[in-house]
Amino acid sequence: MRVVILGCGGFVGSHLLDNLLGDESYLIEGWDPEDRKIRGHLDNPRFTFHRSVANSPEALVEVERAVRECDVVINLAAICNPSDYNTRPVSVIHASLFDVYPVIQLCAKYRRWLVSFSTSEVYGRTLASYLPAGTYDDPDLYELREDETPLVMGPIQNQRWSYACAKQMAERLVYAHHAEDGLPFTIVRPLNFFGPRMDYIPSRDGDGVPRVLACFMAALMSGQPLQLVDGGQARRTIVSIHEAVDAIRRMLERPAAAQNQAFNIGNPHNEVTMAELADLMRRTYAKITGDRRFDDHPIVTVPAERFYGPGYEDCDRRMPDIGKAQRLLGWTPTMTLPEILLETMRAYHEAYAVPEAV
Ligand SMILES: NC(=O)c1ccc[n+]([C@@H]2O[C@H](COP(=O)([O-])OP(=O)(O)OC[C@H]3O[C@@H](n4cnc5c(N)ncnc54)[C@H](O)[C@@H]3O)[C@@H](O)[C@H]2O)c1
Repeated sequence: MRVVILGCGGFVGSHLLDNLLGDESYLIEGWDPEDRKIRGHLDNPRFTFHRSVANSPEALVEVERAVRECDVVINLAAICNPSDYNTRPVSVIHASLFDVYPVIQLCAKYRRWLVSFSTSEVYGRTLASYLPAGTYDDPDLYELREDETPLVMGPIQNQRWSYACAKQMAERLVYAHHAEDGLPFTIVRPLNFFGPRMDYIPSRDGDGVPRVLACFMAALMSGQPLQLVDGGQARRTIVSIHEAVDAIRRMLERPAAAQNQAFNIGNPHNEVTMAELADLMRRTYAKITGDRRFDDHPIVTVPAERFYGPGYEDCDRRMPDIGKAQRLLGWTPTMTLPEILLETMRAYHEAYAVPEAV
């Protein structure tokens, strides 16, 4: 199978390459301006890598050739770090919408299957969050179902929704080209994939505020308190990157089941508040380092406006219905949150804390 992957050098792309390149039947051509996470694959004769963005006029000539020759295009390219959503929303919107549109058009032109990575943020806030307390008892008001749940976002001044809104528009464009031009598509809505290589550690190999796991890891490794935004009451479900990649592999191998569908890819059994995640992470780090003082590592709360800047508003809860992925792909994630954290945090510890100590 010939696969084109845009954004192949990121977290998901690097794990997808590990998986697909392990199978000799896959030939992959990828684009990404970054290669730090995929250097181990650059010499593989079944992988052609372009160290560039996929949307420059020069790159698009090659992308068009690759789309014409391939069986499937997987688009992972995005700016998908919450700290960017309200601080550089123009770039965020461009990366998830306008930069992606030429690729959607090419896939429509050549009727190539487009696996388009969206986000569970397209659901916005749950209906329950707008209703009186206690309504979280009704799954109809909080459970996220691909083909039924309304997509509910805040006002435009709350620029935190720039990413979610751009991704939603990209989904609508994909669907519109499917309806008008017969574009075969699969929309993937990831719900918090966790695993090694997820994000940079600030001031070590990147700047800014990474996603929550790397924020908490950075704090643990540098002896700083873990910072809970607005008390850490937001809830997320965590799924292992390996199981998420397995879901994508199943899509590629079951085109008839996967095409023309949107899928939630997450694990509803691994739901935590960010406060619970912080506590679990400090206890896991105590286990990894053998230093029981981490069990009581300080945790502080900070207002969202101070942490992310003005215009931040959080999704309250993201509880996926994964019935469709179970039914059509035969996919059921089983890794528990403690197992996922142990693997991921150990990898971070070995990559960052151990070399420094030597
Ligand atoms: N990881 C998750 O839990 C999660 C959650 C929700 C959505 N997603 C979506 O899944 C996709 C992959 O996420 P990730 O965690 O690997 O993110 P990531 O930031 O690690 O990877 C994205 C990659 O895209 C590259 N890129 C950006 N613009 C590009 C362009 N124009 N051309 C080529 N490459 C470009 C970046 O350099 C980066 O390597 C994204 O679309 C993201 O929005 C991921």
